[in-house]
Amino acid sequence: MSASTKIPATLIPGDGIGPEVTQSVIEVLDAMGSPFEWDYQLGGMAAIADGGDPLPKATLESIHRTGLALKGPLTTPVGGGFRSVNVRLREEFHLYANLRPAKTLIPGGRYENIDLVIVRENLEGLYVAFEHYIPIGDDPHAVAMSSGVNTRDGSRRIAEFAFDYAARNGRKKVSIVHKANVLKALTGVFLETAQQVGEKYKGQVEYNDRIVDACAMQLVLNPWQYDVIVTTNLFGDILSDLAAGLVGGLGMAPGANIGLHAAIFEAVHGSAPDIAGKGIANPVSVLLAAAMMLEHVGMKDQRTKLEAAIDRVLNEDNVRTGDLGGKATTKEFTAALIKRVG
Ligand code: NAI
Ligand code: MG
Repeated sequence: MSASTKIPATLIPGDGIGPEVTQSVIEVLDAMGSPFEWDYQLGGMAAIADGGDPLPKATLESIHRTGLALKGPLTTPVGGGFRSVNVRLREEFHLYANLRPAKTLIPGGRYENIDLVIVRENLEGLYVAFEHYIPIGDDPHAVAMSSGVNTRDGSRRIAEFAFDYAARNGRKKVSIVHKANVLKALTGVFLETAQQVGEKYKGQVEYNDRIVDACAMQLVLNPWQYDVIVTTNLFGDILSDLAAGLVGGLGMAPGANIGLHAAIFEAVHGSAPDIAGKGIANPVSVLLAAAMMLEHVGMKDQRTKLEAAIDRVLNEDNVRTGDLGGKATTKEFTAALIKRVG
């Protein structure tokens, strides 16, 4: 592609292993004749070091302009400190759908042939974090309270996303996961609305519903009964990490945050401070996120090509990083993949 026809996209290398794994993506996509023209922007600790703000104005402006970003992991301090940049990005760009596929890439693990997709509502539920403490006596934290918010509109929007995704991708079934037996209002409105949407897809995509705790058990005992799962924010966060565990861990799990006007692609894993700077991080998660990004801009053939090449490097060339039991460095894996996509 010539420079003028390239698609502008924001690139946030991120913290910890972020710059190492996103560099791998840039090199591999370049070898494929990348459709993207990257606009490099800062976020997280790297941005604090630069100007004091973990989510600088220039980064927000860039994503408002491009509507498309690939993001490395950002370090978030636990408890105090600033509010999660990831949550702020979702809110700023109304990225209501978090799409997390879990697919077996390496046979011979604890589970074989896993191929499921979790669609997580990304803006509502308990993650609105309307929280406060009530002090009693000399204990300022005697009582902690939190309110969740699920709306009819938000529930409909995410259910439509999930059923539409299923229909477009030849998926057979959507499981609506909830806790409406106990949280009758908060997750009841989600269940009721998702079922109404499911009725509209009758004959095309089936649906059922599952209570979240039973779903967690079934995902361990018999994950193959699931195809697409649609669920609320907190349950989706937990179940998608569980699903990543079914396919070999965080090094193999990509995610997309999608809204009407913007989409941000990232790995599910964090900045892995324990291995940062050592050159041994597994770039596959963020490469798979880039593959989803290719499909998002209408290049499904390029997505298929990249995924097939990753498969061959892992399973035919046997080039794997340490988290997968191999010895390859990030650079060696990248070089092997460039040979396969070239
Ligand atoms: P983590 O995902 O960074 O690391 C967990 C374990 O998995 C570590 O042992 C790490 O070495 C390993 N690991 C993760 N990705 C790997 C890769 N690509 N290759 C090889 N090994 C890998 O989770 P942790 O330690 O809980 O979080 C570290 C920081 O990352 C925190 O500040 C957290 O807030 C942030 N984080 C950011 C996310 C994002 O930006 N989307 C998501 C999750 C966490
Ligand atoms: Mg999570």
